[in-house]
Amino acid sequence: MKYQNFYQESIEHPEKFWSEQAKQLDWFKAPKSILSKDAYNYDQWFEDGELNLSYLCIDKHIKDGFGAQNAIIYDSPVTNRKQHITFNQLHHEVSKLAGGLQSLGLKKGDTCIIYMPMIPQALYAMLACARIGVIHSVVFGGFAPHELAIRIDDCKPKVIITASNGVEIKRIIPYKPFVDEAIEKAKNKPERVIVFDRQLGVEIPKKEYDVNYTELVDKSPSVEPVPVASTHPSYVLYTSGTTGTPKGIIRDTGGYATALKFSMKYIYGVNEGETFWAASDVGWVVGHSFITYGPLLNRNTSILFEGKPIRTPDASTFWRVISEHHVKAMFTAPTAIRAIKKEDPEGEFLKKYDLSCLKYLFLAGERCDVATLTWTEEQLNIPVIDHWWQTESGWPMIANMVGVTLQEIRPGSAGTPVCGYDIQILDEDGEQVSSSVEGYVAIKLPLPPGTLRNLWGNPERFKSGYLDRFPGYYFSGDGGYKDEDNYVFITGRVDDIINVAGHRLSTAEMEEIVASHKEVAECAVFGVHCEIKGQKPLGLVVLKSNEALDKQETIQKEIIQDVRNEIGAVASFREVLVVNRLPKTRSGKTLRKLLRNIADEQQYNIPSTIDDVTIIDEIKSVYQIHKIGIHN
Ligand code: COA
Ligand code: AMP
Repeated sequence: MKYQNFYQESIEHPEKFWSEQAKQLDWFKAPKSILSKDAYNYDQWFEDGELNLSYLCIDKHIKDGFGAQNAIIYDSPVTNRKQHITFNQLHHEVSKLAGGLQSLGLKKGDTCIIYMPMIPQALYAMLACARIGVIHSVVFGGFAPHELAIRIDDCKPKVIITASNGVEIKRIIPYKPFVDEAIEKAKNKPERVIVFDRQLGVEIPKKEYDVNYTELVDKSPSVEPVPVASTHPSYVLYTSGTTGTPKGIIRDTGGYATALKFSMKYIYGVNEGETFWAASDVGWVVGHSFITYGPLLNRNTSILFEGKPIRTPDASTFWRVISEHHVKAMFTAPTAIRAIKKEDPEGEFLKKYDLSCLKYLFLAGERCDVATLTWTEEQLNIPVIDHWWQTESGWPMIANMVGVTLQEIRPGSAGTPVCGYDIQILDEDGEQVSSSVEGYVAIKLPLPPGTLRNLWGNPERFKSGYLDRFPGYYFSGDGGYKDEDNYVFITGRVDDIINVAGHRLSTAEMEEIVASHKEVAECAVFGVHCEIKGQKPLGLVVLKSNEALDKQETIQKEIIQDVRNEIGAVASFREVLVVNRLPKTRSGKTLRKLLRNIADEQQYNIPSTIDDVTIIDEIKSVYQIHKIGIHN
């Protein structure tokens, strides 16, 4: 089966194509309606079908005789713990936790926040929610209590599931105290907090709403999976938008399961029974789709890795895990490879391991620079595949579909469109541009199954943010171009979102926090190039008074701490520079792109609308003094 024919079929006959793929799942009630419109006149898949994700990820495989196969291998270099969890054991843990959730009053349609480190209980919690139709919302552990509180108020969980603590390099992350602080800040109070004690000697502050995870599981009965409608939200996952308020992406159930099963086979090229590793975190979409649901749906063994590519204990960790657990395909972010390459440029660590099991390495989460791709290919001697997607899509939109045909790899390009995605490059007016011309990356509707259903509690923002910009298309927020063979090159976001170490962050949100410092008159926060993390945020501030200038060091420290307290350590906001003024247009708009381009040594056109051109030299000299960009 050739990629081109397969792809064409999916675009020309989407209903036929996806109804075939849906047959790969064991539905409780097979769908008759394939593509229809929802109450908002937006496309939905398999409306009348019924199924259950937890059943498909666990019970189905046991029924088929694979209960003794490893479902999850937990490998934690930060705690020196490893655990092999079979589908039978997974069933025991998940079905009893689901029983526990029911005993606390949770039922189909309720919401539950999961704020947990990379431990098996995080996956049990997701699958237990899915088992009884509870909509989970996993919040990444690197977010501070304030961010958690925003999410609590938005999705109003009845219960939060958390753990005593996380373990970062040389640092304990106090998850339970963070949850307590977030609940205090939130207007909406959950009824219960289920706490898993990791037995690492960390003290757990007690509250009346606490429920002990282990005791709850021990005393609760196993429960059977509850059939849910295909369109039932399986989860809400918050992601950064262009305002300070994150967007709750809603994922359906039937379309998602169909898309993930399809992805494992045709994009990642893994068969049932093989081992797959996505080195990400359950707090991100990669963790949802390719640590938890995708591999388990496809009866793969999924690696759950609690560590970093370096310093846990060194740059050999990835290679050790691949070799020890016989990983067939791995997924990571380019930033992780850059970190490894910096520590081990000659790949000495890599040579110590038998990596013959590894057939493909996939990279995503940020633009993959050619040097990183080439280095990885040279070291591993296997196809290294960049691919492009977003929290919104839930699964890859541009890739080299190795399970169909391994095509030529063109460094700098994320590949060609994945089945179901009619990717077009549009100009300002929504007209398609010619090949090699850069424009806005948009996808002609309907989107294939598994992508976002809407935004939680905010259908207007969904429509205005994604659908109104180019009628008839979904707008991705990225810029890019295609070559004459339909390979797509993503050039980056066209909005205020930045990608720091593969983590999506909003500079608008950071700017709001910086601007609220009492000594700041005005400010700009934008992303600048970072050798390891791809991008990092940089803040420029104009202070209110000369007196403030005398204490600028203290003010800078306070601002950095404010961002860390409000958003979290993950923001990596470590640089803020004081300037006399910011470049503006004559109408008063701050020229952030110009500020970024000067820092990144990119060729920049000085906008004709600039108020005062002499400011450019001022900014350059501030960058020079602080060794930003070109002068680094
Ligand atoms: N819980 C709590 N804190 C977290 C966290 C988590 N889950 N993840 C990161 N943090 C903290 C870190 O401890 C760090 O805190 P610090 O400022 O006190 O040092 C901060 O957030 C920034 O973390 P990070 O961006 O991960 O930087 P790092 O210097 O610790 O590590 C890399 C650098 C490149 C090794 C690391 O970013 C990495 O592994 N990146 C790959 C990420 C990835 O796979 N992303 C894919 C998403 S699809
Ligand atoms: P997230 O929603 O966190 O997955 O981030 C999605 C954003 O990351 C996209 O909109 C892109 O800007 C960027 N991104 C993800 N993968 C790639 C890639 N392979 N190449 C370029 N940018 C990418």
